[in-house]
Amino acid sequence: MTTDPRNAAGEGEFDDVSHALERFRDAGYLADNRLATTVFLQTRLGKPVLLEGPAGVGKTQFATSLAAVTGRRLIRLQCYEGQDETKALYEWDYGKQMLYTQILREKIGQVVEDAVDLDEAVERIAKQDSVFFSERFLAPRPLLEAIDSEDPVVLLIDEVDRADEALEAVLLELLSEYQISIPEVGTVKARQLPYVVLTSNNTRDLSAALKRRCLHLFLDYPEAQRELEIINSKDTGLSEALAVRLIEIVRGLRDLELRKAPSISETIDWARTLAVLGVSELSADVLSSTLNVVVKYERDLKKALAAIPRLVDPNATVPARHDLDHGHGHGHGHGHDADHGHDSGDVDGKEVRAAKDRPGRHGDTYGGPARPDAPVLTKAVTTGQGERSFAARSARKRPV
Ligand SMILES: Nc1ncnc2c1ncn2[C@@H]1O[C@H](COP(=O)(O)OP(=O)(O)O)[C@@H](O)[C@H]1O
Ligand SMILES: [Mg+2]
Repeated sequence: MTTDPRNAAGEGEFDDVSHALERFRDAGYLADNRLATTVFLQTRLGKPVLLEGPAGVGKTQFATSLAAVTGRRLIRLQCYEGQDETKALYEWDYGKQMLYTQILREKIGQVVEDAVDLDEAVERIAKQDSVFFSERFLAPRPLLEAIDSEDPVVLLIDEVDRADEALEAVLLELLSEYQISIPEVGTVKARQLPYVVLTSNNTRDLSAALKRRCLHLFLDYPEAQRELEIINSKDTGLSEALAVRLIEIVRGLRDLELRKAPSISETIDWARTLAVLGVSELSADVLSSTLNVVVKYERDLKKALAAIPRLVDPNATVPARHDLDHGHGHGHGHGHDADHGHDSGDVDGKEVRAAKDRPGRHGDTYGGPARPDAPVLTKAVTTGQGERSFAARSARKRPV
């Protein structure tokens, strides 16, 4: 890829990793070193970035900020279930084709005028196909728009795990070659290399082929210090001392194996709520009465309410099982994998996301203080995931 002359545009975007950190910070996005390194490499190697992780940790915002930082236009493809490639790549502008046929009716009549039979008339019309299946009648959708753009863009392919695997296969050519093949027209190559950012909330495994084409990064909940900086940067109105406490509480809630753990956006919302209420102390009462700002499922709410007194005062009746600063105090036997072996712990990782797939998988008592004899959670790994053959499902021939 480095020999590709189109890469020249990316060189010098950031002098080094700390320069990337600084520019994102200036744009209001507080990245950590790993993310800054990834974006630095992205601009140097011309590779797409794939950010996986729980909702609300700043994946989408990263792409938006990348556009702001580099002065590029943001083109966004929001993925969803059942989305087909006509909504992602391009479609033929049927209305325009019909309009032209109407206007050109006379001309078309002349083409078939002296045809001896229907067969010959059809044959003649077919020869004119290329007129109607040309770029003129192409309606570009986000992926083609990004490739065909005159000016350099950031292409955000958001929540790719929601899309079907067939669409994932469609992406492969784009991600490795920065080109799109249109059978009727030919191959459209990128005029300017886009910076491509894919995000996934990890509700399913993405294909190995897709991951291989990307710089892959697992974005987890931030460390306490960075979360504090993020909260402070948002002008929530909450004092720093209370923000520090609040983050400890939120980190405690994240340890509870909720169906939807509170994320950075929820911490921000909670801080704003408490500030508006003019709260001067984070008591169990005030936290409990505002818990619905951060916890959105009834079952989660019950668990969280039960945990609040202990989180507010770790020396309360129940022995503390969570070291809030460290986030690692579990007595459970669940393991860590290489993706996220840092301080926020496995509860924010695979198990939580798997739980999202199958709400209710964990017993009510998991991680909670009520029943210390609750069963140890074992890791549920679905066999066969990541082994799919995407090429076989692809409508067209795609590189694997
Ligand atoms: N590193 C960060 N710096 C500043 N704000 C952040 C950061 N990470 C997350 N946020 C805030 O959290 C909100 C949610 O982030 P978002 O990108 O929507 O999450 P995701 O796409 O991962 O679900 C953002 O709107 C932003 O306000
Ligand atoms: Mg998002």
